[in-house]
Amino acid sequence: MLNAKISGIASYVPDDILDNEMLSKMVDTTDEWITTRVGIKERRILKIEGEGSSYLGAKAVEKLLAETGTSADEIELVICATSNPDYRFPSTASVICQKAGLKKAYAYDIQAACAGFIVALEDAAAYIKSGLRKKVIVVAAEKMSSMVDYTDRATCPLFGDAAAAVLVEPTEENVGVIDAVFHVDGSGREHLLMKAGGSVKPASVETVMAGENFIYQEGRQVYKHAVTDMLTSSLDVMKRNNLTVDDVDYLIPHQANLRIIEAVTSRAGFPEEKVLVNIEHYGNTSAASIPLCLDEYKGNLKKGDKLILTAFGAGFTWGAMYLVWSI
Ligand code: UT7
Repeated sequence: MLNAKISGIASYVPDDILDNEMLSKMVDTTDEWITTRVGIKERRILKIEGEGSSYLGAKAVEKLLAETGTSADEIELVICATSNPDYRFPSTASVICQKAGLKKAYAYDIQAACAGFIVALEDAAAYIKSGLRKKVIVVAAEKMSSMVDYTDRATCPLFGDAAAAVLVEPTEENVGVIDAVFHVDGSGREHLLMKAGGSVKPASVETVMAGENFIYQEGRQVYKHAVTDMLTSSLDVMKRNNLTVDDVDYLIPHQANLRIIEAVTSRAGFPEEKVLVNIEHYGNTSAASIPLCLDEYKGNLKKGDKLILTAFGAGFTWGAMYLVWSI
């Protein structure tokens, strides 16, 4: 039976840093509030005029190709997970292919908000396991700063810009994407959405003036669901695969709030050293957060390590994946 393994990983963050001190001069907040409530110290911001998420995504893809020694022409498919597409249409994936010189691939976007990476990875794995494709790139590219209101202290400390990409290929070894559980609850959109700019309420002078083209989030509601749903989906996928906490080498949760991560992991019984966290330096980078974290810690991971990835985001959309590391 064919399995789908991750054979390479790379990430890219812009150079510009926005730290808590700088934010506290922009809005009524403090380093102390942000650090204790969310666990973020700094985030990266893409400041190049006229560049969107595809800029970040293409950089991550170029690095991935270089590091895996893969030629651009070998890639058959690129799936881009993003909540911040360059345009309503065409897809950001198509722009990434053009920028990174992927002339033989076809490409499309997936919108599953912060769960986008694991959802897209499951799709890539299905193409590989079925034998339909042999080299697929999943890239999560998020210029979150494009939809953040930097006058709103409730949301502007939370988000950062980043991209990360993985190469997915077939293997006969028992590694790679083993199993996943996903859920969606569309009623959750009232708590986390961009109210205007879509087909329900196209952007207009009025929507812009009302701030409806920025992220709207009712933090406490989202917090509650994020803790419960990442916990239950992680335990669910572990149970389905007869895994206890002792069997799992690392848990890699979506990085939205350090307190959410601590609540999920302590309730599941994971010791701190088994939980990979990098929110302090990047904030919430939506779909990019899990692969960005994996890339940062890849030196600690070894082939055969059993990983649980879990994410929760707008929709609500959430789930967990059992992945056996394969690099
Ligand atoms: O990635 C997608 C999923 N998103 C998430 O998982 C995010 C989930 N939510 C959260 O992480 C948290 O709810 C937040 C970080 C967004 C907010 O933390 P909280 O502990 O839930 O704070 P809160 O919204 O209940 O606000 C508590 C207080 C309020 O003041 P009062 O009403 O108690 O006087 C806020 O006005 O903190 C105030 N506040 C701030 N104070 C200083 C809110 N933002 C700030 C700020 N600086 N930046």
